[in-house]
Amino acid sequence: MALPEVLRNRLRIPAIAAPLFIISHPPLVIAQAKAGIVGSFPALNARPAEQLEDWLSEIGEALAAHDRSHPERPAAPFAVNQIVHKSNTRLEADLALCVKHQVPLVITSLGAVAEVNDAVHSYGGIVLHDVINDRFAHKAIEKGADGLVAVAAGAGGHAGTLSPFALVGEIRRWFDGPLFLSGAIASGDAILSAQAMGADGAYIGSAFIATEEARASEAYKAGIVAGHAADIVYTSLFTGVHGNYLRASIEAAGLDPDALPTGDPKTMNFGGDSAAKAWRDIWGSGQGIGAVDAVLPVAALVERFATEYAAARARLCAG
Ligand SMILES: Cc1cc2nc3c(=O)[nH]c(=O)nc-3n(C[C@H](O)[C@H](O)[C@H](O)COP(=O)(O)O)c2cc1C
Repeated sequence: MALPEVLRNRLRIPAIAAPLFIISHPPLVIAQAKAGIVGSFPALNARPAEQLEDWLSEIGEALAAHDRSHPERPAAPFAVNQIVHKSNTRLEADLALCVKHQVPLVITSLGAVAEVNDAVHSYGGIVLHDVINDRFAHKAIEKGADGLVAVAAGAGGHAGTLSPFALVGEIRRWFDGPLFLSGAIASGDAILSAQAMGADGAYIGSAFIATEEARASEAYKAGIVAGHAADIVYTSLFTGVHGNYLRASIEAAGLDPDALPTGDPKTMNFGGDSAAKAWRDIWGSGQGIGAVDAVLPVAALVERFATEYAAARARLCAG
């Protein structure tokens, strides 16, 4: 099935910049969309909650101004991520603002709820729901999501354990709608691989932490540049749900990354002040960061992806 209008012919390369707790804010989102890939942020990053309206106006106005001055290369659309979980007490109010501002894409995480999808559909918006297995993918589509983000093993933040080949392969047996692959994608070659596997494109998080526009400390950015797959630890300790984190940040917190206790799912808290504090000190990261060599402006990182993507396609066609 073809991509929905909002994504068709609007992207320079087939990629969505993933929402990053704490890190994604308007300068990052605007730079991503101007560079030609979907830019996104979690609604919960706007604190206090009233700030969300300012952020939506700022992003909308900046992208409209860009389109007026560059009609030959309009910006890609942007997305807001909503955590659909009982610990998110802001969901209703944040969603109402997305409806008011007609946010083109909404990415839902952790819970698939029909009312959320209905609200976004009321103005013609599109919902992508992120899932770590085929069972959740079925549930999300049954509840009315338009498309899926398949979060495979090695993804930064909360991540699944399945091989991307298995996950995309299973979903594509029954679902022909929009499907983006997430997990350790940090090069143009990997973006093309996601398409070869059957996805419509890539969903890229950790690589954007090492950009000038990202709201992360210099030490965190340096950790992403220095890190490799072997530096990533998979643990449920910090949120009650398994995720991937940089080993050095766990050591700096005085913990032994090789002997971490199990997290308690009952204490799951996404987006609250205690979660914000935890994510500031414990650095989420996926396994793909071996491909990240420097902190760059977003435009330069997307340029690298586009160059690598074109070269990988040419290599395959020539072969
Ligand atoms: C630091 C960090 C914060 C994240 N925060 C969120 C979030 O708030 N909401 C969400 O849906 N996903 C979040 N994710 C997951 C990403 O959206 C995405 O699935 C992941 O980064 C993709 O894998 P990659 O980092 O290997 O590219 C986060 C990931 C990282 C690394």
